[in-house]
Amino acid sequence: METRIDQIADGIYRLSTFVPDIAPPAGFTFNQFLVLGDEPLMFHTGLRKMFPHNREALSRIIPPEQLRWIAYGHFEADECGAMNEWLAVAPNAQAAHGQTGCLVSLNDFADRAPRILADGEVIDIGRGKRVRFIDTPHTPHGWDAGVMYEESTGTLLCGDLFTQLGDGPALTEGDVVGPSIAAEDLFKYSSLNPAMGTTIRSLAALSPRTLAIMHGPSFSGDGAAALHALADEYDRRACAQPAVAAEAA
Ligand SMILES: [Fe+2]
Ligand SMILES: [Fe+2]
Repeated sequence: METRIDQIADGIYRLSTFVPDIAPPAGFTFNQFLVLGDEPLMFHTGLRKMFPHNREALSRIIPPEQLRWIAYGHFEADECGAMNEWLAVAPNAQAAHGQTGCLVSLNDFADRAPRILADGEVIDIGRGKRVRFIDTPHTPHGWDAGVMYEESTGTLLCGDLFTQLGDGPALTEGDVVGPSIAAEDLFKYSSLNPAMGTTIRSLAALSPRTLAIMHGPSFSGDGAAALHALADEYDRRACAQPAVAAEAA
């Protein structure tokens, strides 16, 4: 297993591990993002069983014990399964997540008390980097779901939004909406809900220049347009559900 490291925006690194056995023959990537600052922040811990591997990969960028913040999208093994392993190697690190995530899972799960982030709260990690937490309940899944936005680079840390298969480039200017719709058809990973399109559209208001995608290539370009297209697709799907239910009834 190999982890590829690429800088996708100024001071933001993508650590990407490709697992060919998931959804073969395309395979699937697991990506973590390191935001460099005086207080380095990592978004996603990676799977617990991948920890030794991911620790080695991170150490190619910074000494892992320098990590200060560990954040993630929602409570799942790939998002935060290795939380306590990271807390053990980084004595000054603290988990950070939204109120729902902390009260439901993280207060109990994390070996040290997490920082509870309000919707819209910013962690100033120094060297001009400011990382904002944004609640996105049930989008794409998990009532604790949230994303982060690094203000200086305009980078949206999307979590599972825009999930796609395959081992594409680290950064693309191509289409990330079509491949994510294909992955949705295959995995059905989203909690389709009436607010989903509105939630995604609210992220478009940030006009991100880079989309840091957990499973798939990162995207450079008009992030708002991509988010609007994704929101429209989920509006269509959410609206389609009652009709299907009615037919079934
Ligand atoms: Fe997930
Ligand atoms: Fe994920």
